[in-house]
Amino acid sequence: DWTADNVVAEQVEAIRAQIGDARVICALSGGVDSAVAAALVQKAVGDQLTCVHVDHGLMRAGEVEQIERDFVAATGVNLVIRHEKERFLAALAGVTDPEQKRKIIGREFIRVFEDAQRDIVAEAGAHGEEVKFLVQGTLYPDVVESGGGEGAANIKSHHNVGGLPDDLTFSLVEPLRTLFKDEVRAVGSELGVPEEIVSRQPFPGPGLGIRIVGEVTEHNLEILRRADAIAREELTRAGLDGEIWQCPVVLLADVRSVGVQGDGRTYGHPIVLRPVSSEDAMTADWTRLPYDVLSVISTRITNEVREINRVTLDVTSKPPGTIEWE
Ligand code: XMP
Repeated sequence: DWTADNVVAEQVEAIRAQIGDARVICALSGGVDSAVAAALVQKAVGDQLTCVHVDHGLMRAGEVEQIERDFVAATGVNLVIRHEKERFLAALAGVTDPEQKRKIIGREFIRVFEDAQRDIVAEAGAHGEEVKFLVQGTLYPDVVESGGGEGAANIKSHHNVGGLPDDLTFSLVEPLRTLFKDEVRAVGSELGVPEEIVSRQPFPGPGLGIRIVGEVTEHNLEILRRADAIAREELTRAGLDGEIWQCPVVLLADVRSVGVQGDGRTYGHPIVLRPVSSEDAMTADWTRLPYDVLSVISTRITNEVREINRVTLDVTSKPPGTIEWE
């Protein structure tokens, strides 16, 4: 019989057998998969695990706090957070091309993660310990898609890290390899992972960086964060989270239009709501949200976010439109 507590018990045993008394690290993205994988490994080997979260400054309102405070409180993991907002913003300054943004964010992310990894390995080494394992939140569909099924591969830690052997490798720990997404959520709940994380919809690695059409600046991020928080709050309040695959909120920072807000003319930016229904994100349809919910979202955003004077709805399926705008 499949039950979440059976899976937890089996995986805890398997993880202990695999890791022994070595040290293990895990990159926490803020998404469901890495959080549940980390919580399982924490339950199995406790303090032998160190998690790393790279705060690139591109998360939505409250998300870093959910990891930093709620996830740590719920699971007791050792967490290292690298606050690198300035670094990412500096690297993104003046960049508007979507592919460029993705490349820059990906590159900086790897650099920061490797720095953190190197520090953890060095510190463990000073205590005579060895960091041998890396946790990955690979799910069953990922395994099938990549034609996998074979045992854990070794991945190489890139670059010459000062003072460390350059053939440093980690074995992968992939406790979710046999699970589907809904099963991962059930296991997460069983482990006490906070509901906001367990029920989280997909969110792209490059974060809000690819939801700003135009330059990614602190100011634009702040505007988008406030609008996005309102949309998410109202969709949740209306009980629509289960119906929606995800709802990107996109700031058209390069576009302005004339409006009238309060007692005067404004020349503000439009925001786009992109609610989609999907099975696997390969194709998607736009979600027919109730007009009254759209109306509340529109009114609240234009009232509460001064810089936004127009709220628009994306009614394009995928294809031809992708889910994200960039
Ligand atoms: P598109 O925009 O290609 O998105 O229709 C399909 C799904 O993938 C997510 N997405 C990403 N996820 N890194 C990620 O981890 C990325 O760079 C990325 N780009 C898109 C998107 O949110 C949707 O669920």
